[in-house]
Amino acid sequence: PDSPIEIAAVGGRIGAEVRDVRLGADLDDATLAAVRAALVRHKVLFFRGQGHLDDAGHEAFGKRFGTPVAHPTVPSRGGDFLFELDSQLGGRANNWHTDVTFVEAYPFASILRAVTIPPAGGDTVWANTAAAYQNLPEDLRALADRLRAVHTNAYDYAAVRPEASERELAIHRHVFASTVYEAEHPVVRVHPESGERTLLLGAFVKRIIGLTTTESQRIYDILQSYVTRLENTVRWRWTQGDVVIWDNRATQHYAIDDYGDQHRVVRRVTLDGQVAVGVDG
Ligand code: SIN
Repeated sequence: PDSPIEIAAVGGRIGAEVRDVRLGADLDDATLAAVRAALVRHKVLFFRGQGHLDDAGHEAFGKRFGTPVAHPTVPSRGGDFLFELDSQLGGRANNWHTDVTFVEAYPFASILRAVTIPPAGGDTVWANTAAAYQNLPEDLRALADRLRAVHTNAYDYAAVRPEASERELAIHRHVFASTVYEAEHPVVRVHPESGERTLLLGAFVKRIIGLTTTESQRIYDILQSYVTRLENTVRWRWTQGDVVIWDNRATQHYAIDDYGDQHRVVRRVTLDGQVAVGVDG
């Protein structure tokens, strides 16, 4: 009742806008605690009007919220930890994914700042992976509970965006797949704060342990279809100065690539996470 922040739900199952908060390294303890609690509850938080945050301010706020980690393969642009997605350099994350799941202790949260946004298009969609798990029929839940998957950064980017130019593909190959990472995670992750069971899948999944490639793909497609049900998603129309924070333990997201040659740049600070724990501990 006495929360220091004003929260308005955006989607029915995921996403809320937080108003009257000025993000920065000087965020007071009570507000910080309220934002953290809201993040676990709503999974994605939208903040308008954060134009005061430059690269340094963005990183400093990241340090207030958690422990920023550099991307394992992509050099930082504009700071120590900033990960930039520039549409003109092939930075179009138009696949469903959870950030950096190809390392063991992947980030617990990401803080994304709109730098350049096209006049129309370029929205991002987030999905609630706890709701997806809840939607599974009981037998599928029992199956998913037992599965483990290998995630890798070395997947075929050409398959992701067939119309990408050779130059974009070359940059992608260079920056993403220069070092191959692989990590094994449970397909169902128990959220360390909420205790909810979540589906841990996304574009970095290479295969499901113990299944053939074809079986892996079929099971993946079935489970992933529950994540991407529109009822489990929220879509955000960006405005310059927006900041979005998501709980990377309970979501996937997809950056819609519908803006052609218009320029879109976003920058992200990613915060260190813990190893995912499955239902058996
Ligand atoms: C990301 O995948 O972290 C970026 C999403 C976006 O570009 O909106």
